Amino acid sequence: MKISRLGVLSALPQELGDLCDQLDRATTVEKARRHYHCGRIGETTVVATTARIGKVAAASTTTTLIQHFEVDAIVFVGVAGGLGRDIAVGDVVLASELLQHDLSAAPLFPPHEIPLLGMQRIPTDSALTGAVRIAAGQAIRRWQAQASHPHFSQSELHEGLIISGDQFIHQPGHAQTLLAAFPDALAVEMEGAAVAQVCWEHGTPFAVIRTISDRADAQAPVAFDQFLSEVAAPMSSGILRGLFDAIAGSSQGAS
Ligand code: ADE
Repeated sequence: MKISRLGVLSALPQELGDLCDQLDRATTVEKARRHYHCGRIGETTVVATTARIGKVAAASTTTTLIQHFEVDAIVFVGVAGGLGRDIAVGDVVLASELLQHDLSAAPLFPPHEIPLLGMQRIPTDSALTGAVRIAAGQAIRRWQAQASHPHFSQSELHEGLIISGDQFIHQPGHAQTLLAAFPDALAVEMEGAAVAQVCWEHGTPFAVIRTISDRADAQAPVAFDQFLSEVAAPMSSGILRGLFDAIAGSSQGAS
């Protein structure tokens, strides 16, 4: 897997972990009300930014990363609400495919199908997702060994469907309704499927990885900020560090 220019995207600054501090020869470019932090990690040029929350924000930022910064792959890293029964706070979910749960042009098109694209679910890139899988597994094992935080000591890596919509899911019954509609959904968030659609349309490889911050229930907004800084940020840092090692390793192997 050869990646020369990697876009790394989050909704909120904490979700990028310490990535911006790791960039060599860093510069910041402002474009369309966002800051793009450009620099090098090893041989890879990195463009790191925060989209803010929601699908439109994510789609706009993804488009800028592809069209203006000419990245050749994108990784979205952040937090999500857990939906599947086995998904606990502190676990990590890697997307194999993404779907917009709040998009429906029925009866004109089948429910949840992206009109005129003919797809409900967009698959992630298998090579990039494979590299993120290895990086996340290593990061989780490191944290388990340190057991520095109760959420890390038992965290597990899951892989499957992530669903996205423009709502923070916390009201009684809402998560159950989503799970009834999408029984294989592991997690819910507010950006991933928009990143997926833009990347798919441009033919840009992408991956999405999320640390579970809540169970999409009434407790979801409680201690969200604390989770972001104490758990999500170090998890993102660990995953991204492993990913850059994997990219460097595979490009050495390829040469
Ligand atoms: N991101 C993190 N938790 C979430 C939730 N409960 N709903 C939507 N997006 C989220």
